[in-house]
Amino acid sequence: MAALLELEGLVAGYGGGDILLGIDLTVEEGSLTCIVGPNGAGKSTLLRVVSGLLKPTRGSVRFRRESIAALSPRAILNRGIVQVPQERSLFPTMTVWENVRLGAYTVRDRGLVERRLAAVGETFPIVKERRNELAASLSGGQQKIVEFARALMLDPTLLILDEPSMGLDPKTRTTVFNTIRSMNDAGHTLLLVEQNARSGLGIATHGVVMESGRVRLQGPGPEVLSNPEIGRLYLGAA
Ligand SMILES: Nc1ncnc2c1ncn2[C@@H]1O[C@H](COP(=O)(O)OP(=O)(O)OP(=O)(O)O)[C@@H](O)[C@H]1O
Ligand SMILES: [Mg+2]
Repeated sequence: MAALLELEGLVAGYGGGDILLGIDLTVEEGSLTCIVGPNGAGKSTLLRVVSGLLKPTRGSVRFRRESIAALSPRAILNRGIVQVPQERSLFPTMTVWENVRLGAYTVRDRGLVERRLAAVGETFPIVKERRNELAASLSGGQQKIVEFARALMLDPTLLILDEPSMGLDPKTRTTVFNTIRSMNDAGHTLLLVEQNARSGLGIATHGVVMESGRVRLQGPGPEVLSNPEIGRLYLGAA
């Protein structure tokens, strides 16, 4: 497998001091890489660096072997790195279809937009079935799935999901995790950040445990999940 995203010696923070204290991490093409870790570990900060919203103070960020650390968020989006944010982000008074279509706002080719709309409608039945309803009328989990569909309108090379299961009930959470798993099965490379370590690592091909701005453990998802140290680090508290 080829490395798609490579972070090396990454240090970054917000002025009050460094939060990420030297992160080495590789996301392989085709993988479902899941980062878990307690509140404040620096997971969202790491994602902010990858999407260009925060500039690293040291270290490198390479995407397909090219440095992207100095690029604008828009330029990084154009390279194919698309992020679904932690908070809800659909326009509540627009329909499902309008929200999904908006995902392709940078795509000029109208025919291509229509073809992708048709494709995500097939991949996510909820998008097709509820297309004329207002986004606000969907449940939290359904809205998350519509956000995934919207992100896929850009045909991302790397799709980043920040805590997609946050605030969902257990049944809906299962649906969301199954959807994430099937996007990876369909060939999408995913970088997932999760509070819910068991569910996240359970579907991951590669698992990463962060704590206090450092990577504490990494390896194949199921191995990380069964590592006795993870109980002490994290799962014990879950
Ligand atoms: N905009 C900001 N300005 C200053 N400090 C920040 C900012 N955003 C986050 N931090 C601090 O950086 C640290 C890491 O935060 P971050 O949001 O990356 O953690 P996280 O692992 O995503 O946590 P959570 O699981 O709660 O989302 C925390 O101490 C937080 O207070
Ligand atoms: Mg976060």
